[in-house]
Amino acid sequence: MNRIPFLDLVTPHQELEAELLAVVQRAFSNAGFIGGPMVEEFEREFASFCNAKYCVGVSSGTDAIRFALMAAGVEAGDMIVTVSHTFIATTEAISQAGAHIAFVDIDEKSYTLDPKKLSQFIETRCEFDSRSGKLIDRESKRRIAGIIPVHLYGQTANMDPILEIAARYNLFVIEDACQAHGAEYFSKKDNAWKRAGSMGKAGAFSFYPGKNLGACGEAGAITTNDAAMAQQMKMIRDHGQAKKYYHDMEGYNGRLDAIQAGWLSVKLRHLAKWNESRRSLAHRYHDLLAEANGAVVTPLEASWTKGVYHLYVVRVRDREALQAYLAEAGIGTGIHYPIPLHLQKAYQHLGHKNGDLPVTERVAAEIISLPMFPGLTHRQQEEVANNVKEFATSRVSATQGS
Ligand SMILES: Cc1ncc(COP(=O)(O)O)c(C=O)c1O
Repeated sequence: MNRIPFLDLVTPHQELEAELLAVVQRAFSNAGFIGGPMVEEFEREFASFCNAKYCVGVSSGTDAIRFALMAAGVEAGDMIVTVSHTFIATTEAISQAGAHIAFVDIDEKSYTLDPKKLSQFIETRCEFDSRSGKLIDRESKRRIAGIIPVHLYGQTANMDPILEIAARYNLFVIEDACQAHGAEYFSKKDNAWKRAGSMGKAGAFSFYPGKNLGACGEAGAITTNDAAMAQQMKMIRDHGQAKKYYHDMEGYNGRLDAIQAGWLSVKLRHLAKWNESRRSLAHRYHDLLAEANGAVVTPLEASWTKGVYHLYVVRVRDREALQAYLAEAGIGTGIHYPIPLHLQKAYQHLGHKNGDLPVTERVAAEIISLPMFPGLTHRQQEEVANNVKEFATSRVSATQGS
């Protein structure tokens, strides 16, 4: 056990124990375990939290992305553009929906899909057939159907230019908001702040326990402003039926459990406060680490985003050594993610090599996630920052001495 954990999941559940147990009692009293009022209540509340019209509860974030892609009309053999610097679920969902993955590099400051690289990809690799309105990958002749920007670490991608490119080429946008519950984006185009999950055709959320809003097990949701999409996703999650035993198509068993939904409703009431606390801890980390002689690159919160710091990720030159140094001091850390997806064994068949996505590769080699959770105390945070600074300073003096 680390003295300072990377994440504390025990304390919030102890604090909310009575309310969480009441949810179980409610479910036991009416045996409503699948669907029903608790799921519908949570869907209404979460849609409202995201400023979206509809929310469809599903069994995981991975299913949320997959069902959103299917409902958006992805067809077997289509291509979906996304980033390689994300959790594999983003691309698993693409493959599971029958589509192919096209990777585009990230922006080095926000670690999210770079709109300029997206444009370059389209201009150099694709052809737009204005008669059919289809964007085609020249080499494979596949249709590019959509884009999945990932709001990684709780920071939104730069959505205005991404949505503009998507509209120009007739592509749908599914936001992977699995790490970004409550994150906001300032749209210059609409002169308004927007919530993650309210900007694309749909937004996919994970409620994996460690997320900013986490279930006590597996759960996910899809938000959308499109009534037909919502209806379609409800059918896909429930064996293709809108009415029991009347199946319009084959679907999945991808529903959200009622008890999980009830627990999520309890926790949702605390989410704004928890996010605020993560934001203030992040700003404190920025200040504390600013003294590390520039050896530590802290996250940049771009002017167009209000991040919710699902993770607090810094960049250092020798991150394995820093991770070992912090472990020695009893401080938990994580690496999100050590190997970019395009270089993973699972995607060998795509034929990528080192150097294909230089920013992604550079970032993946240097990132390390420091402890970040709403109950992290200032004392603990100072201790983390002091250890990071000590490490960084010892490295700088070692280089100067050699
Ligand atoms: C960026 C991203 N996408 C998708 C997922 C998949 O979510 P889940 O684990 O709920 O299937 C996750 C969460 O683990 C994630 O972090």
